[in-house]
Amino acid sequence: MANTILVGAQWGDEGKGKIIDFLTEHADIVVRSQGGNNAGHTVILGTKKYVLHLIPSGILRSDKVCVIGNGVVIDPVSLVGEIETLKTQGVKIRKGQFLISDAAHLVFPYHRMLDEQRELKKGRNKIGTTKRGIGPAYGDKAARTGLRMCDLVQPAVFTEKLRARIKENNAILKTLGAPPVSFKEVLDSYLGAAEKLRPYIINTVVYLHEALKAGREVLFEGAQGTFLDIDHGTYPYVTSSNTTAGGACTGSGVPPHRMDRVIGVMKAYTTRVGEGPFPSEDPVISDLLHGMGREFGATTGRARRCGWFDAVATRYAAMINGIDDLAVTNLDGLDGLDWIKVCTHYKMGRKRLEVPPADCLHLSDCKPFYIEFEGWRQSTAEARTWTDLPLKAREYLKAIADLTGAKLAIASVGPGRDQTIVL
Ligand code: IMP
Ligand code: MG
Repeated sequence: MANTILVGAQWGDEGKGKIIDFLTEHADIVVRSQGGNNAGHTVILGTKKYVLHLIPSGILRSDKVCVIGNGVVIDPVSLVGEIETLKTQGVKIRKGQFLISDAAHLVFPYHRMLDEQRELKKGRNKIGTTKRGIGPAYGDKAARTGLRMCDLVQPAVFTEKLRARIKENNAILKTLGAPPVSFKEVLDSYLGAAEKLRPYIINTVVYLHEALKAGREVLFEGAQGTFLDIDHGTYPYVTSSNTTAGGACTGSGVPPHRMDRVIGVMKAYTTRVGEGPFPSEDPVISDLLHGMGREFGATTGRARRCGWFDAVATRYAAMINGIDDLAVTNLDGLDGLDWIKVCTHYKMGRKRLEVPPADCLHLSDCKPFYIEFEGWRQSTAEARTWTDLPLKAREYLKAIADLTGAKLAIASVGPGRDQTIVL
């Protein structure tokens, strides 16, 4: 399968976890290159459900190596918790099978508190973050005041750097009216986590280059989605990393010319969690999906906002990411509908738009233009091949791939590993 980047083509939660798990079978190494524990990938194997936040989903297959790259921001205490939860679920993590970049930045309790305080201060203009401290942690990275994994494993160095950071951040928290963070508590819990993580921390850039030289195949698993990208998304309603294909290179140290293929994952409809403009949002499909018990967030449990498939968004995603192949998920979510709408373009005033405008206020003024498809009105959950699918479902899938401008490669009709149709 060569070296593959997998990205979300919408606002996250496209069902990447399941597609990654499926593709991992053909990969040797799975790499996370951006984001933090704001992500939540759900993988269902048989009767067991695994929710992963920082650890690549490849960990569920014992013969794969999983790497957390330099572009990820890591809350070490939460990472240790994730490793321990997996252990209780019977997933063993061997040394050498799981690797953490020594250059990855750390997330601290003051980042989480600043995240929360800034959201509170914004009031109704809030972003709707996961409150995991992601924005402030990447902010420190850009401001060159962050601490990294290589600091964490040197207790004396870490202690002094942390002391200075806590002093500064407590002063900021004070002006925001929030309580201070205890230096001693953070130091103890972080140094405790450091000892548990130490065996996994290495220079992952060198590891990946040696693996590539040896002909091993790498899968880069994207977190979040294209429109949450800090550069290309619906700013400021975005996350703080590059969720698009380029992030796989900067976040891992693997250069662009070593990448062979980009797979975009998109739902057969659209969802987003958090605030921000969403032109094709519609209560009809929201009520339908929530009524089915679907579309609640894996990280925060929030009900996701739902809408019709938006080809304006996915067309732009295909461009930014260079999507070669598409995986369409959650087709079965549309099974009960008589009519299904697809947004083909926006109108902003009298202007027709084929791609989203940069300004969020303009995007919220955009009116979606729809074409309608007749529903197939039958369950697709049992389909295992392309021809098992109702003709109308096949026509719908072909149409949304064509409007996006990339090749349809995979369709998913449920959370199970076997509910995957390869074209
Ligand atoms: P943050 O990443 O916690 O700062 O949140 C910023 C925005 O990205 C909010 O709208 C979140 O709901 C959204 N977001 C962050 N991570 C995910 C994810 O994994 N899936 C979907 N949305 C996400
Ligand atoms: Mg998710």
